[in-house]
Parts: sequence; C-alpha cells; structure tokens
Amino acid sequence: MPRRQDITKLLAPEAIGALPRHVGIIMDGNGRWARARGLPRSKGHHAGMKALRRAVEAADHFRVEALTIYSFSAENWARPKTEVDYLFSLLRHFVRRDVDDLHRRNVRIRIIGERGGLPEDISRLLRHCEELTRANSGLTLVVAFNYGGRQEIAQAARQLAEKVARGEVRAQDITPQAIGAHLHAPDLPELDLLIRTGNEQRLSNFLLWQSAYAELVFLPEYWPDFDALSFQRALLEYAARERRFGGLKEDPRKVGAPAKASQGG
Ligand code: FPP
Repeated sequence: MPRRQDITKLLAPEAIGALPRHVGIIMDGNGRWARARGLPRSKGHHAGMKALRRAVEAADHFRVEALTIYSFSAENWARPKTEVDYLFSLLRHFVRRDVDDLHRRNVRIRIIGERGGLPEDISRLLRHCEELTRANSGLTLVVAFNYGGRQEIAQAARQLAEKVARGEVRAQDITPQAIGAHLHAPDLPELDLLIRTGNEQRLSNFLLWQSAYAELVFLPEYWPDFDALSFQRALLEYAARERRFGGLKEDPRKVGAPAKASQGG
C-alpha cells in the first residue's frame, strides 16, 4: 500500500492529462539500495516487494489498464543460486500474502515468460494466480517471470515457422501483426509507457517488441524507494510528451512534406 501521505498527495487521474493504458516497469536498484544501507541484497528485494505493492495501488488509482512488471528475467539465472532461490521464495511469499487481496480488488493477474525450467511448485502457483483472477475486470497485473524479450520474439517466429511448415500460414503473411499475435499476451493494449528506476537507461531484454513506440521514463531512485508519487511523476512526464508514431506533428499538407513519413519520430 502507498504510504498514507502519498495517497493524499496524489492528483486525480483527470488532472494528469493523457494517461497510458499500459505501463511496464523495470524494477531496478534493489541491490544498490541494500548496499547503501550495509544490508544483504535480499533485503533490497524484500523492500522491492513493498514498492511493488505501492506501484500496483498507484496504477489502480490512475486507472491504468495493464501494468507489466519485470520480476525475474531469463538472464537472472546467472545470479548466485542463493539470490535466485530468494527471488523464487519472494514470489511464493507474494502469491500467499497478496494474491487473495489483489483478487478482492478485482485485479487480473497474468504471467508472461518461459514456464519450462521453473520449479514445479512455482509453475503451479503461477497457474493458480491466473486461474483465480481470470474473470476479474480491473487492473491487469502482468508478471514477467523467467521472461526475455528476444526469447519471446524467437518463440513467436518458431510458432509461425511451424504453421508455415504445416501449410497453415504462407510465408508472405508473416507481418508485424502476425508476430504480435504470437507473443505471450497478444491481447494487451499497446505498451505506452516504460519506466525504469535505478538510474540506468537500457531495456535489458524487457518487452522489446512492445516498446517500439513506448515512451521511456528513467527515474533516479532505486526501486525500493519508488512510491505512488514516483508513479505520478512518470505519468506527468508521459503526459507532457508528444507522441507521433513515426508521423508528423503538423498536418503534412500544410508544411509541404511527403504525405507519409517512413520511419522515426
Ligand atoms: C533488479 O534489481 C530487481 C530484480 C532482479 C528483481 C525484482 C524483484 C522484486 C522487486 C521483488 C518482487 C518480485 C516478485 C517475485 C513478485 P537489482 O538486483 O538488479 O539491483 P542492482 O542493479 O542495484 O543490483
């Protein structure tokens, strides 16, 4: 839950301006937050879990439709086993402690990422979250777990190749739309805003396909310090951006430019 003073300070959604339908978050800086306090990295992840609750509450307040969080990347297996085990135990804790509450608040939980290779009880818990909340109509919380953007695109390409081999799809029908339709959660709204905390400015294999036209907002604070006001700050920055999707701001007929811009913007 956001700290009480954050809730009272939040603007009404209508006061922000254009609001994103789908927000992704790279929750970075747990380890550095802990180190700055002389604590083990696990304490940073634990504090990160509390920040995640604040982010969900803020997304709900601002009527965001979907929030995708990067909780465990396909590359995080390279961390020491003790840290990987701790992140898994945090997921178990999250499911036990938070999922019933999220369900009561009409949150729908979805999981993206590779299920194979995960401990069996983790796969079961992920399925449980999705099944329990399947009919909910409020915020969709997408947990990216054992997720990698390149892996997701490769998987879509593989599925399409198999369909071509079976004669169900023609090679010339492999369009961006066809690839998009074979991603893990193809029915989500377009990703509008991607937030990364921890003062790093890269995508780290998160939602590579979906972020093609997302606005990127990099926040200096470490993830455990993220709160509802951080979320609001990112939304205000998003609302101030001009999105052109490769087109032009002004009507091209007025400025004598070619009718279609082919890229950029
Ligand atoms: C990146 O910080 C964070 C992670 C790899 C894990 C994120 C997990 C949480 C916020 C806990 C909630 C998760 C679940 C399972 C629902 P880092 O460790 O890379 O930080 P550093 O760059 O400062 O070392």
